[in-house]
Amino acid sequence: MIKKANLAVFLSGKGSNFVALLDAIAFGKLDVRVAVVISNNSEAGGLRIAADKGIPAEVIERTAFTTGEEFGSAILIALQTHDVDLIALAGYLRKIPPLVTRAFPRRIVNIHPALLPKFGGKGMYGHFVHEAVIKAGESETGATVHYVDEIYDNGDIIAQRKIAVHPGETPESLGRRVLEIEHQLYPEILQHLVNQILQKKY
Ligand code: GRF
Repeated sequence: MIKKANLAVFLSGKGSNFVALLDAIAFGKLDVRVAVVISNNSEAGGLRIAADKGIPAEVIERTAFTTGEEFGSAILIALQTHDVDLIALAGYLRKIPPLVTRAFPRRIVNIHPALLPKFGGKGMYGHFVHEAVIKAGESETGATVHYVDEIYDNGDIIAQRKIAVHPGETPESLGRRVLEIEHQLYPEILQHLVNQILQKKY
């Protein structure tokens, strides 16, 4: 029997991308099992969603550890405990420790609310991204799914989807429209990756 891929979702905030993944699973568009949710923030809304759905969740806060190595090793243990095949960052606002990126090469992906390599890097998250896009006078923006390495928003790009920036657009209106395409793009791309992983593994 072919095993379902075990997905870990990392989040720090409200978790609308997490909900989009759960919806895609429910509609048969994404064939994975969410094995665990990991958050660095005990207040993250995404944790309540996991609890409602009976999905295991672990809060692993950087401040609970003296070194980055210890933090990384706590994450790694959680991933191994839940037999994780693939990791999806969904609004996770901490850098993934090297111990974890090395243990999961090309098995960690992120969705970023702009067309990388533009408008990425440290501090480029949430409304800051959309403000910068508007300020730069860009005519289009979008969402990028990319592999995660030790540098923010740096790994190879897997897929992008574009939308136009309308005249008079605000960071809020742009953020809403980008989020809509994120919710479509992320499950689609994760399903492609799951297919690749399962072909290699079984
Ligand atoms: C999204 O814009 C995503 O691109 C970024 O963080 C935001 C997360 O939103 N990485 P949510 O918590 O999934 O609603």
